[in-house]
Amino acid sequence: MTILVTGGAGFIGSNFVIDWLKQSDEAVVTLDALTYAGNLANLGALGADSRHRFVRGSIGDGVLVERLLRQNAVRAVVNFAAESHVDRSISGPAPFFETNVMGTLALLEASRAYFGTLDGAAREAFRLLHVSTDEVYGTLAPDEPAFAETTPYRPNSPYAASKAASDHLVRAYRETYGLPVLVTNCSNNYGPYQFPEKLIPLVINNALSGKALPIYGDGRQVRDWLHVADHCSAIRRVLEAGAPGATFNVGGDNQMANIEVVQLICGLLDVRRPRGDGKSYAEQVVYVADRPGHDRRYAIDARRIATELGWRPAVSFAEGLATTVDWYLANPDWVADVTSGAYRDWIARQYG
Ligand code: NAD
Ligand code: TYD
Repeated sequence: MTILVTGGAGFIGSNFVIDWLKQSDEAVVTLDALTYAGNLANLGALGADSRHRFVRGSIGDGVLVERLLRQNAVRAVVNFAAESHVDRSISGPAPFFETNVMGTLALLEASRAYFGTLDGAAREAFRLLHVSTDEVYGTLAPDEPAFAETTPYRPNSPYAASKAASDHLVRAYRETYGLPVLVTNCSNNYGPYQFPEKLIPLVINNALSGKALPIYGDGRQVRDWLHVADHCSAIRRVLEAGAPGATFNVGGDNQMANIEVVQLICGLLDVRRPRGDGKSYAEQVVYVADRPGHDRRYAIDARRIATELGWRPAVSFAEGLATTVDWYLANPDWVADVTSGAYRDWIARQYG
């Protein structure tokens, strides 16, 4: 048996593929377009593992996807492939709709065609799991209850709108064509191999490079942080036991304001890699202009996945943040490789 993991050279996808092959002998085909966010080095730990095959290509290439499904007799598709950074979606929305909407449509079409050829146990077993985000629900006031699976979609950024559209497409393929789909809507992830445009790795990288730590607006926006290993275990569990058509919210029950997260990172770095002048990295914090349409608060109500599937996060934020900081300290070459010329252009445009 084989699973097809799309976007498996990105942050969460690569963590998922590596975890999967540690726990299962079921082979993996990784399909990734290797955009700026995709990096084969993320899968380097696999070495020449014969259970893994990498294919460079786009989920938007339906012919390629259908061929991979048939050739490998794929029993499940896990779709991580996406444009994923909110700020990039604000400065240029089009690629988000090409990949997240039209790409997902092509993936669904190829999966539908392939599913139509299956019968018996193979048809029973087939699943397409679409990995999505809590950002589709919009923003919460401080006293509002956390996002549940029944919360209406109210996306506020082009990224969130493109993910919401893809979730709707996935749902429609279940209702219209009977495709056995699953959807997970997860909160903010952190951990190894996260591209240093996202808050946590950006702050670690900037701190160590002596640069400003940019805090948007007042820094009191709240995110519900989940370690990537916990997100991967949730996806495995949903794939294993989720009823076709179900959606599950996934979160760490760990709401924290951005400025608090940044202060924790500075505290960890102060101990592990003290600044030469004896001052705290917190001195590098700079408040900058807010993100347009910036969602104030995300929080996940993860009771459905807990009660129906018995999943709970295993990594505390204190432990997960410390091991993440240690990973970035131990992997400066990875950071140097991914922060290529194109990355520097983005930083120059975004932060001036
Ligand atoms: P990422 O940007 O690190 O990785 C995305 C990967 O998709 C990259 O390897 C990229 O090369 C690949 N890709 C892009 N376009 C492609 C295409 N057309 N065909 C094939 N591959 C393509 O993103 P991530 O943080 O790992 O997020 C993965 C998924 O999880 C996304 O769908 C995202 O919406 C979702 N998600 C992310 C978070 C988070 O906090 N990072 C939280 C919840 C959900
Ligand atoms: P980010 O990692 O981009 O994730 P998302 O927008 O998907 O939640 O940002 C996390 C939070 O950190 C968000 O509230 C925006 C904020 N942020 C900053 O304050 N400064 C920055 O330089 C970045 C990248 C994010």
